[in-house]
Amino acid sequence: MLLNIADVLDAAAIAAIHNEIKSGGVVFTDGSATAGWQAKAVKKNEQASGAALDGIIQKASSAILTHPLFRAAANPKQLVKVMLSRYKPGMAYGTHVDNALMGGIRTDLSFTLFLKEPDTYEGGALVIEGNDGDNEIKLPAGSLVLYPTTALHHVSEVTSGERLAIVGWVRSYIRSHEDRETLFDLENAISSLRLANVDRAILDRLLKVKANLLRGWVED
Ligand code: NI
Repeated sequence: MLLNIADVLDAAAIAAIHNEIKSGGVVFTDGSATAGWQAKAVKKNEQASGAALDGIIQKASSAILTHPLFRAAANPKQLVKVMLSRYKPGMAYGTHVDNALMGGIRTDLSFTLFLKEPDTYEGGALVIEGNDGDNEIKLPAGSLVLYPTTALHHVSEVTSGERLAIVGWVRSYIRSHEDRETLFDLENAISSLRLANVDRAILDRLLKVKANLLRGWVED
């Protein structure tokens, strides 16, 4: 399942990140150092560091982890790694698959949180490569795409402007993508029924089903 989540960061939070970059609180260096050997060969982008980076990553991580839609879709145990990356004209990230383990922790889901409006740069789409074709994603600033880390993917070359994004990986309590999707559907159905004020006894039954499916599927 591939899910777009709007408004994870608001305009003020995004402006604060851009200001830190302008004022030198965040600096960028060659990103190939943070890639595995397969990815290193195709990775051409820049990775952030600097005094203000920790604060930015912490704020973004907290916004992501507390977002109800993200929680329902990812069943996150933790964010494994979160980075800020930049692509200038001529930069791209060729086809690769992300590492299954990062620091000894399994990666189940990946996300990209876009920090520039799509009409301010050309190219720079995240392309998820499926057996049934490619899925090109380029979202408004503040929006996030969540997708299974199992997929081959690439970032197409930026030809003008700048692509700025926070990318990261999630260890989910639920290992199977199908089971995670089932829980997501169930959660959405329960939320809709709650809003529709259905009989409490019906909700209790469904909440019991959800709790017991979780109990069966969770890897903690
Ligand atoms: Ni990747």
